[in-house]
Amino acid sequence: MWIGYGEDAHRLEPGRKLMLGGVEIASDRGAAAHSDGDALLHAIADAVLSAVGAGDIGEVFPDTDPRWAGLAGEELLERVLELAGAHPLRCERPRCGRVRQVRAVVTLDRPKLAPHREAMRHRIAELCGLEPADVSVAFKTSEGLAPDHVQARALVVLEEA
Ligand code: C5P
Ligand code: MG
Repeated sequence: MWIGYGEDAHRLEPGRKLMLGGVEIASDRGAAAHSDGDALLHAIADAVLSAVGAGDIGEVFPDTDPRWAGLAGEELLERVLELAGAHPLRCERPRCGRVRQVRAVVTLDRPKLAPHREAMRHRIAELCGLEPADVSVAFKTSEGLAPDHVQARALVVLEEA
C-alpha cells in the first residue's frame, strides 16, 4: 500500500464556472484557470502521482503544451490513474497501483458545499473505480483568511496492482 498527498488552489473570479470533484457548483465566482480549475480533482490527481513517485500534474501535463490546454479535471484524473497503474502490465515504474481510498478537504468560504457532498463522492468514486464509501470529502471555510481562493487537499491510498 502507498499513501499519496496532493494539494491545489485557484483564485476565484466572477463569470467563471466553479467545478469541484467533477460537480458544477452554482456560484457567482469560479476558478481562474487554463483548465476547468477543478481544484479537488487536481489535488486527488497530484496525490495519486505522489503515491507512485511520478512527480506532479504540472510536470506530467505542462500548461505550456497545447495538447493539455483546457484539459478537464476528469480527463486529467483518468489519465493519471492510467499512468499510475490501471494497466499494470504497461506500468514501467517500480510502483503501480489502484486507488483504494480517497480522503479530501476543500477550503472555500462560500458557497456552502455540503449540499454537493454526495454528488462529489459519487463522481470521484466513479472516476477512481471505488464505492462512494471509500471516498470522503470534508469542507472548511478559511474563516475569511482566503476569501478569494478555493483550495483542496487530498490523501489517497493505493494498493499494488
Ligand atoms: O470551516 P467551518 O468549520 O466553519 O465549516 C463549518 C461547516 O460548514 C462544516 O460542517 C462544513 O462542512 C460546512 N462548509 C460547507 N461549505 C463550505 C465551507 C464549510 O458546507 N464552503
Ligand atoms: Mg488546479
